[in-house]
Amino acid sequence: MAGRGIVLLLSVLFAASVGVCHGAAAAPGPGYVTVSTASFVTAGSASTCNSPDPVAAPTRNGTSAVLRLTHRHGPCAPSRTSSLATPSVAAILRADQRRAEYILNRVSGTGATKQQQQQPGDSKSAAAATVPASWGYGIGTLNYVVTVSLGTPGVTQTLEMDTGSDLSWVQCAPCAAPSCYAQKDPLFDPAQSSTYAAVPCGGAACAGLGFYGDGSCTTQCGYVVRYGDSSNTTGVYSSDTLALTPQDKVSSFFFGCGRAQAGLFTGIDGLMGLGRQSVSLVQQTVAAYGGAFSYCLPTTPTAAGYLTLGRPSTSGAAVATTQLLSSPNAPFYYIVMMTGVSVGGKKLDVPRPVFAGGVVVDSGTVVTRLPPTAYAALRAAFRAAMAAYGYPTAPPTGILDTCYNFTGYGSVTLPTVALAFGGGASVTLGGDGILSFGCLAFATTGGEDGGVAILGNVQQRSFEVRFDASSVGFKPNSC
Ligand SMILES: *[C@@H]1O[C@H](CO)[C@@H](O)[C@H](O)[C@H]1NC(C)=O
Ligand SMILES: *[C@@H]1O[C@H](CO)[C@@H](O)[C@H](O)[C@H]1NC(C)=O
Ligand SMILES: *[C@@H]1O[C@H](CO)[C@@H](O)[C@H](O)[C@H]1NC(C)=O
Repeated sequence: MAGRGIVLLLSVLFAASVGVCHGAAAAPGPGYVTVSTASFVTAGSASTCNSPDPVAAPTRNGTSAVLRLTHRHGPCAPSRTSSLATPSVAAILRADQRRAEYILNRVSGTGATKQQQQQPGDSKSAAAATVPASWGYGIGTLNYVVTVSLGTPGVTQTLEMDTGSDLSWVQCAPCAAPSCYAQKDPLFDPAQSSTYAAVPCGGAACAGLGFYGDGSCTTQCGYVVRYGDSSNTTGVYSSDTLALTPQDKVSSFFFGCGRAQAGLFTGIDGLMGLGRQSVSLVQQTVAAYGGAFSYCLPTTPTAAGYLTLGRPSTSGAAVATTQLLSSPNAPFYYIVMMTGVSVGGKKLDVPRPVFAGGVVVDSGTVVTRLPPTAYAALRAAFRAAMAAYGYPTAPPTGILDTCYNFTGYGSVTLPTVALAFGGGASVTLGGDGILSFGCLAFATTGGEDGGVAILGNVQQRSFEVRFDASSVGFKPNSC
């Protein structure tokens, strides 16, 4: 019975997305959006991918590379991951909570003493001594994958995209279980690649690893990435040719050649780090792509989005752009200033200092976390607006405490939720950015007002989210 409820709520999520995407609704009042429930049943069980391959390239200015980006599960995913069982909603939300707590702790510099570890020979260790040595978070929530080719001749690899970490890595042959987990693509074998090189000890490249260096360099430069859920990967820091697309090659791309992985990795061949630190793909390719990238996360597993390296064209539809902040505690995250939230077109009465900690724009966190006072105001306004329509409520699902049972409704009308950012940028979410698992897809940070918040990937879906060295922009209806 409880299981059936979850399935129903899940299908609400997909249907909400589809309804908004196709504009199927009757005209609601200002500040409201009506979402059709017609496809509640079929969308969740859809087995065909509705997006062409390659995806239509958005207009670019100058050199760029466009990669197809899909949800890890579902019909658009590469065949090597689509066959995996989708985790339960409860498991997704638990993993999401671990990731969010990790990011929040890491930025606020609290909760670090337990696992603190100095990395010898790292000039940054003093500044970063307040963050845990476990250099990551629950990896289980990273749900968007791209396919690239590594080495010469190229070997196809399916990688999870992550704006919240920097070092890219793949599992490398030879690597027997249990050191490596099972993956469907062949392992990348450095011995078979004519362009492969291990990074030597003592050079600038090895020193550039910073915290990711394993500190025990003998002949080859070792790396280690530890994630907050105690997953980890270790191996040899290496370079080889990375083909983002057949036309877009990065020579001497630095990555981790994984010799031992432990933890919650399934189905993927590795990770693509898009963070702000020098070892990330974005920073390694500044000369070619200008340090700019963007992505559009698809609203459903039956659609594809894209990941683009390079500058978007400045022409085109209005983009809400806000300044990127430099955060001394967290130079690795993309943090912007949030200034307010509106529900149903009305700005909530939340004092600006509540948002003073900024918000991490993260591709891997699912549900947006707001400071307690902001979340309480949002929840109250949302519940009041929904109560006016008489929608029956449903029990909480994990961290989500504002849930509905839309059984029997042909369509539902939701108050829009708009997020205001520094510099006057305003981002109005569609139904697919408001509801997830049949619930309001927001939660509290559980921290203090004025502390850091997180913009999760539910709220980013269907926007082209643009990053460069100084700003983050949101362009609606982009995939
Ligand atoms: C949703 O409502 C229907 C009837 O309208 C009921 O049969 C079902 O049990 C409810 N589901 C949940 C999860 O509350
Ligand atoms: C990786 O995790 C496994 C299992 O928790 C642990 O035994 C191993 O020591 C860890 N490796 C590193 C380098 O942290
Ligand atoms: C391309 O970028 C240049 C320099 O940033 C700018 O001057 C130009 O207007 C851009 N062109 C388009 C079409 O966006």
